[in-house]
Amino acid sequence: MQHRTNIRTVGVIGAGTMGSGIAQVFAQNGRKVLLYDALDGAVERAVGMIGKFLDKAVGKGKLEASAAEATKANIKPSALGDMSGVDLVVEAISEDPPIKHALLRELQKTVAEDVIFASNTSSISVSDLGRVSGRPDRFIGMHFFNPVPLMALVEVVVGLQTAEPVVETITALAKDLGKTPLRVKDHPGFVSNRILMPMINEAVLCYSDGVADGETIDGVMKLGMNHPMGPLALADLIGLDVCLFILEVLHRDLGEDRYRPTPLLRTMVRAGFLGRKSGKGFYDYDNK
Ligand code: CAA
Repeated sequence: MQHRTNIRTVGVIGAGTMGSGIAQVFAQNGRKVLLYDALDGAVERAVGMIGKFLDKAVGKGKLEASAAEATKANIKPSALGDMSGVDLVVEAISEDPPIKHALLRELQKTVAEDVIFASNTSSISVSDLGRVSGRPDRFIGMHFFNPVPLMALVEVVVGLQTAEPVVETITALAKDLGKTPLRVKDHPGFVSNRILMPMINEAVLCYSDGVADGETIDGVMKLGMNHPMGPLALADLIGLDVCLFILEVLHRDLGEDRYRPTPLLRTMVRAGFLGRKSGKGFYDYDNK
């Protein structure tokens, strides 16, 4: 089936860290964004955070005040029922397959048939989500990286049934947002997390084995490998629960012992040490 190529209005579903970053990037690039989150107050929080980043950039002379105001005006807090007018849906809700499935079934009822659904999933099969969405040929992974406004990459994840013209539309769109799209196949962890998560897991194992303390492990990777942040600090940024979930997908779907989550990671998640978002992970954060 033909799909819509002129993308002026985007429905961003999920206003957490990733959804708010995605909304900001679309809005900064002239798109109207309808932003929805099932959690009360989440959209208002996201709009507040985006406003703060934009105001800070204006204060530092990095952004015109008029551009900041135009970006803010492009973001509209919305209900799920408002999505009938969008030209693209980008889903960025929690990495929970049944919740994603229920949302996609709901969206399928509201959103026009020719609209592409893109998912920011970091590890759930795009082919599976495509099947559930009822529009597998118009379903694709558009995997952004945290912090979205600063990171260059969009990993374009092509499902078994994704139509080639849909890949072309999303690739062109990512470029238009100032990002660099790189195309990968739908396979567990895609490329990004298949490589990143074993590194983070190994860093947690080094920490748990007492090879060195957290600052030293991170220091080795920053100073010796030129990584902008060490793997433990990065795990805190991503969320330890998200890292654990992705490792479980890799371990289960690829069936190799080398992806087995380090027990300490599981224990920390059970204790509620989720990284930055909970105020504690491998480091302590002041979340006030
Ligand atoms: N919007 C707008 N501006 C933002 C922003 C946002 N969301 N977040 C930060 N900024 C601004 C800051 O305010 C700051 O502005 P000033 O320079 O004017 O003060 C500027 O951007 C730079 O911020 P920092 O000082 O924090 O920048 P830094 O040089 O310390 O770099 C970093 C921060 C970009 C996060 C860098 O440490 C980095 O690249 N780390 C690695 C990140 C990474 O690997 N991310 C991928 C994670 S994996 C993932 O996301 C996908 C997955 O599936 C798990």
